[in-house]
Amino acid sequence: MTVTEDRPEVKAPAAAEVFDVELKIKRYNPETDTKPHWETFVVQAEGTDRVLDALHTAKWEQDGTLTFRRSCAHGVCGSDAMVINGENGLACFMLIKDVGTKITLEPIRGLPVIKDLVVDMEPFFAQYRSVLPYLINTGDPGYKERYQSSDDRERFDDTTKCILCAACTTSCPIYWGNSSYIGPAAIVNAHRFIFDSRDEGSAERLDILNERSGVWKCRTAFNCTEACPRGIKITQAIQEVKRAILFDRV
Ligand code: FES
Repeated sequence: MTVTEDRPEVKAPAAAEVFDVELKIKRYNPETDTKPHWETFVVQAEGTDRVLDALHTAKWEQDGTLTFRRSCAHGVCGSDAMVINGENGLACFMLIKDVGTKITLEPIRGLPVIKDLVVDMEPFFAQYRSVLPYLINTGDPGYKERYQSSDDRERFDDTTKCILCAACTTSCPIYWGNSSYIGPAAIVNAHRFIFDSRDEGSAERLDILNERSGVWKCRTAFNCTEACPRGIKITQAIQEVKRAILFDRV
């Protein structure tokens, strides 16, 4: 008997099932439209394809003017947040088999639409910058690293995961009604430094977040926590910042 005869039979993998997927997309071209309108594209996709793949098929095979942001395509850069079947998410993170074959896509809410699914992110980033989202420490570290224990690092581990996709802030009903609200993403990024034992800017950040546009506008709706593609416990982080302001300690 030869070795070949002992081998189990290897079956070719079954061909993946291909579906017709209907993408109903809210479109807006500032050069030709006075208001947004819906357009429908039908593309073919497998269940394990991502919503982003279906969007690419529509753009590359049917209408090159269809406009959306994407870069990494792997849930890292945060550029393709949109409203998918009514809820915020990343198009590169959502599989067709999880969202179904009839998909509605809209730009994230609360920010000005530039074209189709692309919004102006500048108001969002201005709010992010306002909380001083960087390490503040004027001490000379000398030739050593600034030491931090594992327990101290753990205090802000969750909020280091933010990718600034804006899914949280633009899912917040308070933000929709009042864009001066600093929003969950800015608070998350403030939290990341407020609870960093090496940082010296916590008092300044807490003063900023204690203003009218700051954390007190949060009504604990939990939309932000549900929308976060990184699973950050955003409402909990906001509560921790509120407590730090109230009890003057971090
Ligand atoms: S394209 Fe980068 S997060 Fe989706």
